[in-house]
Amino acid sequence: MQIKQYVPQSIKRILQYSYDAWFDLADFVLGRGHPMVPARRHTFIGRGDFIADGRAFLETLVQFTGLTPGGQVLDIGSGQGRMALPLTGFLSAEGRYTGLEIVKSGVDWCEQAYVAHENFTFHHADVFNSYYNPGGQYQSSDYPFPFPDDEFDVIFLASVFTHMRPADIAHYLKEISRCLKPGGRCLASFFLLGEDSRAAISCGESAVVFRFPVDGHSLSATEIDPENAIAIDEGFIRSAYEKNGLKIEGEVHRGTWATNLPALSLQDMVIACAR
Ligand SMILES: C[S@@+](CC[C@H](N)C(=O)[O-])C[C@H]1O[C@@H](n2cnc3c(N)ncnc32)[C@H](O)[C@@H]1O
Repeated sequence: MQIKQYVPQSIKRILQYSYDAWFDLADFVLGRGHPMVPARRHTFIGRGDFIADGRAFLETLVQFTGLTPGGQVLDIGSGQGRMALPLTGFLSAEGRYTGLEIVKSGVDWCEQAYVAHENFTFHHADVFNSYYNPGGQYQSSDYPFPFPDDEFDVIFLASVFTHMRPADIAHYLKEISRCLKPGGRCLASFFLLGEDSRAAISCGESAVVFRFPVDGHSLSATEIDPENAIAIDEGFIRSAYEKNGLKIEGEVHRGTWATNLPALSLQDMVIACAR
């Protein structure tokens, strides 16, 4: 549902909540609910088809990272388990999934929903984000991941760096590099600012318009709450990967957000290998 721009944020939230509550009621009455899919009115990870989007992401993850059923995988910004759900049918008993999330209610939800899956664990990181966790105790830029060195075969971030500032991303890349096994892979999505996307933004052709400068290397879509959606300079990202021993594999996979050309997903995807 499109709610007009001029409606205040608080009213939008109430309208959205009521709209979602009706759908939840319909799902309940028609027996359409799924025990591992959060009710629409409690969803904070964005709109879309929870199950289909998770499945499509798993396909991309396996194709580009070579994740195997016995692999050790870390999902940073695991939200409400959208990407964890299809992994329950993919990972074997030797495989292990770890989620790291800053919204406590998301971690609590997943802990309950995945209680029968012993090889799935969810960690809460009380890290500040102006949009998702405004009361967070720690800054992303100095938060050490609670995992040992060389722990994971694959680390992924689906629509997470699109909510983080440049210095925070640089620190996370350092931690990702530390926690990946040598030869392990990281798949992360971004809104990357390169020549083509900057041109699309200035012509008004991009699906998301980023225009408010944030910390020098990035632009936000909103002035009041920058971490709601952030696009970051591609050159900054390439050098941060390089500096942290993460080798970008092949070309960056452009998303549809800027150019609307056929692509894997809305956001740009970067796949890198730990050296
Ligand atoms: C758009 S949601 C995507 C959630 C999940 N990856 C998915 O695709 O379903 C963005 C997620 O990133 C998380 N997030 C934001 N900043 C973070 C940070 N510094 N560290 C870890 N997670 C973060 C948010 O709490 C939220 O769950």
